[in-house]
Amino acid sequence: MRSIDEFTITDATLDQMSTATNPRFKQIMEAAVRHLHDFAREVDLTPEEWLAGISFLTAVGQTCTQYRQEFILLSDTLGLSALVNYMHDGRMIEPGTQSSLLGPFYRQDAPHFNLGDCIGKKPGSQEIGIYGQITDSEGRGIPHASIQIWQTDDEGEYDLQHNDPSQMDFRGILEADSEGRFHIRTVRPLGYLIPLDGPVGDMIRAQRRHGFRPAHIHFLIGAPGYREVVTALYVNPDDHMDSDVVFGSTASLVVETHTDDPNSPFPNLPTIHFDFSLARAAEEDKSGRVGADPAQILAKMH
Ligand code: BEZ
Ligand code: FE
Repeated sequence: MRSIDEFTITDATLDQMSTATNPRFKQIMEAAVRHLHDFAREVDLTPEEWLAGISFLTAVGQTCTQYRQEFILLSDTLGLSALVNYMHDGRMIEPGTQSSLLGPFYRQDAPHFNLGDCIGKKPGSQEIGIYGQITDSEGRGIPHASIQIWQTDDEGEYDLQHNDPSQMDFRGILEADSEGRFHIRTVRPLGYLIPLDGPVGDMIRAQRRHGFRPAHIHFLIGAPGYREVVTALYVNPDDHMDSDVVFGSTASLVVETHTDDPNSPFPNLPTIHFDFSLARAAEEDKSGRVGADPAQILAKMH
């Protein structure tokens, strides 16, 4: 009979898992076990700490609903979602706009808008315009690209955080014109605290982090034959531009509103101009979404 100790347990576990037939599943599980065991040995994990970790992950799961994905929030605040995005960008076969977090507030079935519409029901005094072009990596317009856009209202909240989260606001789907151009109205987004009333919030407070995301507008852009991009524009000025709690803000995606842009289709509004470029899709390109509508994640489990 073999004897197992704190070091040989790793090979014993890997040995037993070696019968897995899906090679990618096998590779991922083996690496996960090696790193988990090394982690436990490195910090000399005690039974109480192990149980605290299990309780924390249990609470994260129990906080998930059709309107809230606490596991994605955990991944985001640990920098894992941003890392997966950056690695995904590294696999582009030609240059394209950088990815940024999809986050927990994306919804699949947003309403459709025409070019020039306002995506918010009550734009108020903070109305702004956004315009630009969806191009390929050589700057040629991609006709009729699909653009999904979502953001906070002028109080810094997503519709999903309101009393009735089934009501959609400040999100929409539009189609670029025959040259890939788009223009749309919305409000200036506000920076906001990520949801801190769950277990991830407890972790953020224990780490003495501020918990803010800088002001931003999310985009999910696609067209047949091109690699879908999930990204966001980060609107300067914002005190947290360099300390985003989920590491999504990055230099190439920072924008400003201008009131003196002679090309703006909205001469009376502060306007953001940004051109997005899509790389051609490679054979193996799958979705670029690090995340999903929380309701879809639950639906797939049942
Ligand atoms: C967001 O931008 O919507 C978001 C991303 C990660 C965590 C929380 C919110
Ligand atoms: Fe957001």
